[in-house]
Amino acid sequence: MELWALSTVVLEHIDRPMKKHIVGNWKMNGSAAFTEALVSEISAGLSAAHAVVGVTPPSLYFSTAKSKATNGLLVGVQNCHEAESGAFTGEHSVSMIKDMSADFVIIGHSERRHVFGETDEQISAKVKAALSKGLPVILCVGEKLEERDAGSHEALVGTQTKSALNGVSAEQMSKVWVAYEPVWAIGTGRTASPEQAGAMHEVIRALLVELYGSEIAHKTPILYGGSVKPNNAEALLNTKGIDGALVGGASLKSDSFLAIINAAPKAE
Ligand code: PGA
Repeated sequence: MELWALSTVVLEHIDRPMKKHIVGNWKMNGSAAFTEALVSEISAGLSAAHAVVGVTPPSLYFSTAKSKATNGLLVGVQNCHEAESGAFTGEHSVSMIKDMSADFVIIGHSERRHVFGETDEQISAKVKAALSKGLPVILCVGEKLEERDAGSHEALVGTQTKSALNGVSAEQMSKVWVAYEPVWAIGTGRTASPEQAGAMHEVIRALLVELYGSEIAHKTPILYGGSVKPNNAEALLNTKGIDGALVGGASLKSDSFLAIINAAPKAE
């Protein structure tokens, strides 16, 4: 192929908008019956969906969710441990998660960082453990309010992203989605404006370009999370650089979660 033709192909690929990625993070909510009902309702609503959609129930209900998931609904877990096995009461290894046929794992959620004290180093180890076994990762990053107020939010999110991806190969990036979740917007009803979110997504994208080059950077979905609701989803999901949403509270009801999914613009 002529060089000019090759570069056209690459550019077309980079410019092509990707399908939006919408993931529900249920956190520690629900019951077996709730999981069955919600996964069935969401699955039924996906027949005409034009987005990549996933849910992450509590791990105890993973199999219940998986058995009810249809129409391409992905089912993931909310956390993993970096060790293969051992004396880690209450934890799950990546092999165990793979064994249950999970589609992805969320790593570095702000509640893991700030409620359970996970460090950048641990998060990096978890990311590497998951990717080394081929388990796709949703890597969460995001600043606290004081860091935004101090103007250090971009540097902080850059450091979190770089640290988590340290040692991750270009090839492994095909299994990484990033979720920008400002801590001050999570569960507070105070969402980042599309401008604030879009600006941070640009910062993250630029960092990915620096680390992996333009093509990989533009193929990596960068989701926004933090009080995404049916009434703000359309504006956020139509913002340049926002490739999807990680949804907490509004993913616990099928009507609000499906409304967010349906607010996603179609990729051409
Ligand atoms: P929220 O949670 O949508 O309830 O703010 C988002 C998250 O924590 O992933």
